[in-house]
Amino acid sequence: MLKSSKVKIGNVLLDNRVVLAPMAGITNTAFRLIAKEFGAGLVHTEMISAKGLCYKQKRTYEYLIHSKEEKPISMQIFGSEPEVMSDAAQILIEHGADIVDINMGCPVKKVVKTGAGAALLKDLKKAEKIIKAVRKVCSVPLTIKIRAGWTPEKPVFLELLRIAEENGVDAVTIHARYATQGYSVKADWNIIRKAKENTKDNVVIIGNGDIFSFEDAKKMQNDTNCDAVMIARGAIGNPWIFKDEIPTLSERKRIILKHLAIEKRYIKKKALGHIKAILIWYSKSLPYSSLFRQKVGKAKSEEELISLLNSYFSLLTERAYGNKSS
Ligand SMILES: Cc1cc2nc3c(=O)[nH]c(=O)nc-3n(C[C@H](O)[C@H](O)[C@H](O)COP(=O)(O)O)c2cc1C
Repeated sequence: MLKSSKVKIGNVLLDNRVVLAPMAGITNTAFRLIAKEFGAGLVHTEMISAKGLCYKQKRTYEYLIHSKEEKPISMQIFGSEPEVMSDAAQILIEHGADIVDINMGCPVKKVVKTGAGAALLKDLKKAEKIIKAVRKVCSVPLTIKIRAGWTPEKPVFLELLRIAEENGVDAVTIHARYATQGYSVKADWNIIRKAKENTKDNVVIIGNGDIFSFEDAKKMQNDTNCDAVMIARGAIGNPWIFKDEIPTLSERKRIILKHLAIEKRYIKKKALGHIKAILIWYSKSLPYSSLFRQKVGKAKSEEELISLLNSYFSLLTERAYGNKSS
Protein backbone atom coordinates (compact mmCIF):
# COMPACT_ATOMS: atom_id res chain seq x y z
CA MET A 1 0.00 0.00 0.00
CA LEU A 2 2.72 2.52 0.96
CA LYS A 3 4.88 1.66 -2.01
CA SER A 4 2.25 0.48 -4.43
CA SER A 5 -0.34 3.23 -4.31
CA LYS A 6 -0.13 6.80 -5.50
CA VAL A 7 -1.32 9.84 -3.61
CA LYS A 8 -2.07 13.38 -4.73
CA ILE A 9 -0.97 16.50 -2.86
CA GLY A 10 -3.02 19.20 -4.53
CA ASN A 11 -2.40 18.57 -8.22
CA VAL A 12 0.97 16.85 -7.68
CA LEU A 13 0.77 13.08 -8.01
CA LEU A 14 3.29 11.10 -5.96
CA ASP A 15 4.25 7.62 -7.18
CA ASN A 16 4.06 6.27 -3.65
CA ARG A 17 3.43 7.31 -0.07
CA VAL A 18 6.94 7.31 1.40
CA VAL A 19 8.47 10.76 1.78
CA LEU A 20 12.01 11.93 2.54
CA ALA A 21 11.93 14.55 5.33
CA PRO A 22 13.64 17.93 5.26
CA MET A 23 16.89 17.78 7.25
CA ALA A 24 19.14 20.82 7.67
CA GLY A 25 22.71 20.12 6.61
CA ILE A 26 21.71 16.74 5.18
CA THR A 27 19.02 16.65 2.49
CA ASN A 28 20.93 18.41 -0.26
CA THR A 29 20.61 17.46 -3.90
CA ALA A 30 22.99 14.47 -3.61
CA PHE A 31 21.12 13.02 -0.65
CA ARG A 32 17.77 13.56 -2.35
CA LEU A 33 18.86 11.99 -5.63
CA ILE A 34 19.97 8.85 -3.83
CA ALA A 35 16.71 8.71 -1.85
CA LYS A 36 14.80 9.14 -5.08
CA GLU A 37 16.76 6.36 -6.78
CA PHE A 38 15.68 4.05 -3.97
CA GLY A 39 12.05 5.00 -4.34
CA ALA A 40 11.19 8.01 -2.17
CA GLY A 41 7.85 9.30 -3.49
CA LEU A 42 8.65 12.91 -2.56
CA VAL A 43 11.81 14.64 -1.39
CA HIS A 44 12.29 17.86 0.59
CA THR A 45 15.00 20.48 0.67
CA GLU A 46 16.23 21.44 4.08
CA MET A 47 14.55 24.47 5.67
CA ILE A 48 15.47 27.66 3.85
CA SER A 49 15.38 31.11 5.43
CA ALA A 50 12.60 33.20 3.88
CA LYS A 51 14.54 36.35 4.78
CA GLY A 52 17.71 34.96 3.20
CA LEU A 53 15.79 34.43 -0.03
CA CYS A 54 14.22 37.89 0.03
CA TYR A 55 17.57 39.54 0.83
CA LYS A 56 19.15 37.56 -2.02
CA GLN A 57 21.82 35.95 0.16
CA LYS A 58 24.04 33.84 -2.07
CA ARG A 59 24.43 31.06 0.48
CA THR A 60 20.66 30.75 0.91
CA TYR A 61 20.17 30.37 -2.84
CA GLU A 62 22.52 27.37 -2.83
CA TYR A 63 19.79 25.43 -1.01
CA LEU A 64 17.62 25.74 -4.11
CA ILE A 65 20.01 23.72 -6.28
CA HIS A 66 18.28 20.59 -7.51
CA SER A 67 18.04 18.45 -10.59
CA LYS A 68 15.05 17.34 -12.61
CA GLU A 69 15.50 13.70 -11.55
CA GLU A 70 14.42 14.71 -8.05
CA LYS A 71 11.03 15.93 -9.11
CA PRO A 72 8.52 16.32 -7.64
CA ILE A 73 10.46 18.34 -5.08
CA SER A 74 9.08 20.15 -2.06
CA MET A 75 11.03 23.20 -0.88
CA GLN A 76 10.66 24.25 2.75
CA ILE A 77 10.83 27.80 4.10
CA PHE A 78 10.96 29.14 7.63
CA GLY A 79 10.17 32.64 8.82
CA SER A 80 7.75 34.64 10.90
CA GLU A 81 6.61 37.54 8.73
CA PRO A 82 3.67 36.84 6.41
CA GLU A 83 4.84 39.16 3.59
CA VAL A 84 8.39 37.87 3.69
CA MET A 85 7.08 34.30 3.65
CA SER A 86 4.82 34.97 0.68
CA ASP A 87 7.65 36.65 -1.25
CA ALA A 88 9.92 33.72 -0.41
CA ALA A 89 7.30 31.21 -1.57
CA GLN A 90 7.19 32.93 -4.96
CA ILE A 91 10.98 32.74 -5.20
CA LEU A 92 10.81 29.00 -4.48
CA ILE A 93 8.28 28.53 -7.27
CA GLU A 94 10.39 30.57 -9.71
CA HIS A 95 13.26 28.22 -8.86
CA GLY A 96 11.31 25.05 -9.57
CA ALA A 97 9.48 24.07 -6.36
CA ASP A 98 6.65 21.65 -7.14
CA ILE A 99 5.36 22.03 -3.58
CA VAL A 100 5.98 24.77 -1.00
CA ASP A 101 6.25 23.63 2.62
CA ILE A 102 6.17 25.90 5.67
CA ASN A 103 8.22 24.90 8.69
CA MET A 104 6.08 25.15 11.83
CA GLY A 105 7.90 22.59 13.92
CA CYS A 106 11.61 23.40 14.23
CA PRO A 107 12.44 23.75 17.95
CA VAL A 108 16.02 24.99 17.44
CA LYS A 109 16.68 28.13 19.53
CA LYS A 110 18.13 30.17 16.67
CA VAL A 111 14.91 29.66 14.68
CA VAL A 112 12.39 29.89 17.51
CA LYS A 113 13.78 33.14 18.90
CA THR A 114 12.88 34.86 15.63
CA GLY A 115 9.25 33.71 15.98
CA ALA A 116 9.65 31.07 13.25
CA GLY A 117 9.45 27.26 13.24
CA ALA A 118 7.88 25.77 16.37
CA ALA A 119 7.35 29.26 17.87
CA LEU A 120 4.33 29.45 15.56
CA LEU A 121 2.73 26.66 17.62
CA LYS A 122 2.48 29.25 20.42
CA ASP A 123 0.95 31.86 18.15
CA LEU A 124 -1.70 30.30 15.95
CA LYS A 125 -2.96 33.72 14.83
CA LYS A 126 0.44 34.42 13.31
CA ALA A 127 0.55 30.90 11.86
CA GLU A 128 -2.81 31.54 10.21
CA LYS A 129 -1.67 34.89 8.80
CA ILE A 130 1.39 33.23 7.28
CA ILE A 131 -0.68 30.42 5.77
CA LYS A 132 -3.16 32.90 4.29
CA ALA A 133 -0.42 35.14 2.88
CA VAL A 134 1.47 32.27 1.30
CA ARG A 135 -1.67 30.55 -0.01
CA LYS A 136 -2.69 33.75 -1.76
CA VAL A 137 0.40 33.80 -3.97
CA CYS A 138 1.28 30.13 -4.10
CA SER A 139 0.44 28.59 -7.48
CA VAL A 140 1.65 25.12 -6.44
CA PRO A 141 0.41 22.90 -3.61
CA LEU A 142 1.04 24.29 -0.13
CA THR A 143 1.92 22.09 2.84
CA ILE A 144 2.90 22.70 6.45
CA LYS A 145 5.08 20.62 8.76
CA ILE A 146 4.19 20.81 12.44
CA ARG A 147 4.78 19.26 15.83
CA ALA A 148 1.74 18.52 18.03
CA GLY A 149 2.21 21.70 20.02
CA TRP A 150 4.80 23.59 22.03
CA THR A 151 4.30 21.53 25.24
CA PRO A 152 2.36 18.31 25.94
CA GLU A 153 0.17 20.37 28.29
CA LYS A 154 -1.13 22.34 25.33
CA PRO A 155 -1.70 20.33 22.16
CA VAL A 156 -2.62 22.59 19.25
CA PHE A 157 -2.47 20.25 16.30
CA LEU A 158 -6.23 19.85 15.90
CA GLU A 159 -6.72 23.62 15.94
CA LEU A 160 -3.88 24.10 13.48
CA LEU A 161 -5.32 21.38 11.24
CA ARG A 162 -8.62 23.24 11.20
CA ILE A 163 -6.80 26.44 10.19
CA ALA A 164 -4.96 24.50 7.50
CA GLU A 165 -8.18 22.98 6.18
CA GLU A 166 -10.00 26.31 6.08
CA ASN A 167 -7.16 28.03 4.25
CA GLY A 168 -6.46 25.62 1.44
CA VAL A 169 -3.40 23.79 2.76
CA ASP A 170 -2.99 20.60 0.72
CA ALA A 171 -1.06 18.44 3.19
CA VAL A 172 0.07 18.55 6.80
CA THR A 173 3.06 16.60 8.09
CA ILE A 174 2.82 15.84 11.78
CA HIS A 175 5.97 15.04 13.72
CA ALA A 176 4.34 13.26 16.64
CA ARG A 177 6.13 15.06 19.46
CA TYR A 178 5.97 18.45 21.18
CA ALA A 179 8.58 21.14 20.62
CA THR A 180 9.83 21.09 24.22
CA GLN A 181 10.44 17.33 23.99
CA GLY A 182 13.10 17.51 21.28
CA TYR A 183 13.75 13.81 20.69
CA SER A 184 13.71 12.90 24.39
CA VAL A 185 10.56 10.79 24.26
CA LYS A 186 9.23 8.25 21.79
CA ALA A 187 7.00 9.72 19.08
CA ASP A 188 3.34 9.31 20.06
CA TRP A 189 1.66 7.97 16.94
CA ASN A 190 -1.77 8.46 18.59
CA ILE A 191 -1.30 12.13 17.68
CA ILE A 192 -1.14 11.17 14.00
CA ARG A 193 -4.16 8.87 14.34
CA LYS A 194 -6.20 11.66 15.97
CA ALA A 195 -5.09 14.12 13.31
CA LYS A 196 -6.23 11.79 10.53
CA GLU A 197 -9.55 11.07 12.27
CA ASN A 198 -10.25 14.78 12.57
CA THR A 199 -9.29 15.95 9.09
CA LYS A 200 -11.33 16.09 5.91
CA ASP A 201 -10.11 13.97 3.02
CA ASN A 202 -8.91 16.94 0.96
CA VAL A 203 -5.95 17.44 3.32
CA VAL A 204 -3.29 14.74 3.07
CA ILE A 205 -1.94 13.69 6.47
CA ILE A 206 1.72 12.67 6.49
CA GLY A 207 2.85 10.89 9.65
CA ASN A 208 6.38 11.44 10.95
CA GLY A 209 8.48 10.29 13.88
CA ASP A 210 10.60 7.23 14.68
CA ILE A 211 10.45 5.27 11.44
CA PHE A 212 13.71 3.34 11.29
CA SER A 213 12.68 0.44 9.04
CA PHE A 214 10.11 -0.23 6.38
CA GLU A 215 8.28 -2.37 8.95
CA ASP A 216 7.96 0.76 11.13
CA ALA A 217 6.56 2.66 8.16
CA LYS A 218 3.90 0.02 7.55
CA LYS A 219 3.08 -0.09 11.25
CA MET A 220 2.65 3.69 11.39
CA GLN A 221 0.24 3.63 8.49
CA ASN A 222 -1.60 0.69 9.94
CA ASP A 223 -1.89 2.19 13.43
CA THR A 224 -2.79 5.72 12.36
CA ASN A 225 -4.41 5.42 8.92
CA CYS A 226 -2.21 8.32 7.76
CA ASP A 227 -2.09 8.94 4.00
CA ALA A 228 1.70 8.89 3.73
CA VAL A 229 4.74 8.55 5.97
CA MET A 230 7.85 10.72 6.24
CA ILE A 231 11.29 9.40 7.16
CA ALA A 232 14.15 11.55 8.48
CA ARG A 233 16.91 9.99 10.63
CA GLY A 234 16.08 6.49 9.43
CA ALA A 235 17.15 7.46 5.92
CA ILE A 236 20.59 8.84 6.87
CA GLY A 237 23.13 6.45 5.35
CA ASN A 238 20.25 4.09 4.67
CA PRO A 239 18.45 4.88 1.40
CA TRP A 240 17.54 1.17 1.26
CA ILE A 241 14.80 1.96 3.77
CA PHE A 242 12.75 3.34 0.86
CA LYS A 243 13.02 0.04 -0.98
CA ASP A 244 12.64 -2.24 2.03
CA GLU A 245 15.97 -3.90 1.28
CA ILE A 246 19.13 -4.81 3.18
CA PRO A 247 22.16 -4.07 0.99
CA THR A 248 25.05 -6.42 0.40
CA LEU A 249 28.51 -5.07 1.19
CA SER A 250 29.35 -4.45 -2.44
CA GLU A 251 26.05 -2.67 -3.02
CA ARG A 252 26.65 -0.51 0.03
CA LYS A 253 30.07 0.49 -1.23
CA ARG A 254 28.71 1.19 -4.71
CA ILE A 255 26.12 3.58 -3.32
CA ILE A 256 28.63 5.33 -1.03
CA LEU A 257 30.85 6.00 -4.05
CA LYS A 258 27.87 7.14 -6.09
CA HIS A 259 26.72 9.47 -3.31
CA LEU A 260 30.25 10.93 -3.08
CA ALA A 261 30.40 11.45 -6.83
CA ILE A 262 27.08 13.33 -6.91
CA GLU A 263 28.09 15.36 -3.88
CA LYS A 264 31.29 16.43 -5.61
CA ARG A 265 29.44 17.35 -8.78
CA TYR A 266 27.03 19.70 -7.01
CA ILE A 267 28.72 20.84 -3.83
CA LYS A 268 32.05 22.41 -4.59
CA LYS A 269 32.75 24.16 -1.31
CA LYS A 270 33.64 22.34 1.91
CA ALA A 271 33.74 19.10 -0.05
CA LEU A 272 36.03 17.33 2.43
CA GLY A 273 33.64 17.87 5.35
CA HIS A 274 30.73 16.58 3.29
CA ILE A 275 32.66 13.50 2.20
CA LYS A 276 33.55 12.72 5.81
CA ALA A 277 29.92 13.09 6.86
CA ILE A 278 28.76 10.73 4.12
CA LEU A 279 31.30 8.05 5.07
CA ILE A 280 30.26 8.34 8.70
CA TRP A 281 26.54 8.07 7.88
CA TYR A 282 26.90 4.93 5.80
CA SER A 283 29.22 3.11 8.20
CA LYS A 284 27.28 3.74 11.39
CA SER A 285 25.54 0.39 11.59
CA LEU A 286 28.55 -1.66 10.44
CA PRO A 287 31.09 -3.66 12.50
CA TYR A 288 34.40 -2.00 13.47
CA SER A 289 32.96 1.32 12.36
CA SER A 290 34.03 3.39 15.37
CA LEU A 291 37.73 3.02 14.50
CA PHE A 292 36.94 3.73 10.84
CA ARG A 293 35.01 6.85 11.81
CA GLN A 294 37.87 8.09 14.01
CA LYS A 295 40.28 7.74 11.10
CA VAL A 296 37.83 9.48 8.77
CA GLY A 297 37.58 12.37 11.21
CA LYS A 298 41.34 12.89 11.11
CA ALA A 299 41.86 12.47 7.36
CA LYS A 300 43.40 15.40 5.50
CA SER A 301 42.50 14.70 1.90
CA GLU A 302 39.94 13.08 -0.32
CA GLU A 303 42.50 10.49 -1.50
CA GLU A 304 43.12 9.50 2.10
CA LEU A 305 39.37 9.13 2.68
CA ILE A 306 38.89 6.90 -0.36
CA SER A 307 41.85 4.78 0.68
CA LEU A 308 40.33 4.44 4.19
CA LEU A 309 37.02 3.43 2.65
CA ASN A 310 38.68 0.77 0.47
CA SER A 311 40.66 -0.67 3.39
CA TYR A 312 37.59 -0.70 5.60
CA PHE A 313 35.48 -2.56 3.07
CA SER A 314 38.33 -5.04 2.43
CA LEU A 315 38.45 -5.67 6.17
CA LEU A 316 34.70 -6.22 6.32
CA THR A 317 34.85 -8.64 3.41
CA GLU A 318 37.80 -10.50 4.92
CA ARG A 319 36.05 -10.85 8.23
CA ALA A 320 33.25 -12.42 6.26
CA TYR A 321 30.76 -9.81 7.33
CA GLY A 322 28.02 -10.16 4.74
CA ASN A 323 30.36 -12.35 2.68
CA LYS A 324 27.63 -14.77 1.79
CA SER A 325 25.58 -12.05 0.20
CA SER A 326 28.28 -9.75 -1.17
C1 LIG B 1 19.74 16.67 11.40
C2 LIG B 1 18.27 17.02 11.30
C3 LIG B 1 17.89 18.16 10.63
C4 LIG B 1 16.53 18.49 10.53
N1 LIG B 1 16.17 19.58 9.80
C5 LIG B 1 14.85 19.84 9.60
C6 LIG B 1 14.45 20.88 8.72
O1 LIG B 1 15.26 21.56 8.09
N2 LIG B 1 13.11 21.11 8.59
C7 LIG B 1 12.17 20.36 9.25
O2 LIG B 1 10.98 20.59 9.09
N3 LIG B 1 12.54 19.36 10.06
C8 LIG B 1 13.84 19.07 10.23
N4 LIG B 1 14.21 18.01 11.00
C9 LIG B 1 13.17 17.17 11.62
C10 LIG B 1 12.84 15.97 10.73
O3 LIG B 1 12.37 16.38 9.47
C11 LIG B 1 11.80 15.05 11.38
O4 LIG B 1 10.62 15.76 11.58
C12 LIG B 1 12.25 14.49 12.72
O5 LIG B 1 13.61 14.10 12.70
C13 LIG B 1 11.41 13.27 13.13
O6 LIG B 1 11.51 12.26 12.15
P1 LIG B 1 12.44 10.94 12.35
O7 LIG B 1 12.01 10.30 13.64
O8 LIG B 1 12.12 10.09 11.14
O9 LIG B 1 13.85 11.40 12.43
C14 LIG B 1 15.55 17.67 11.13
C15 LIG B 1 15.96 16.52 11.81
C16 LIG B 1 17.30 16.18 11.89
C17 LIG B 1 17.69 14.91 12.60
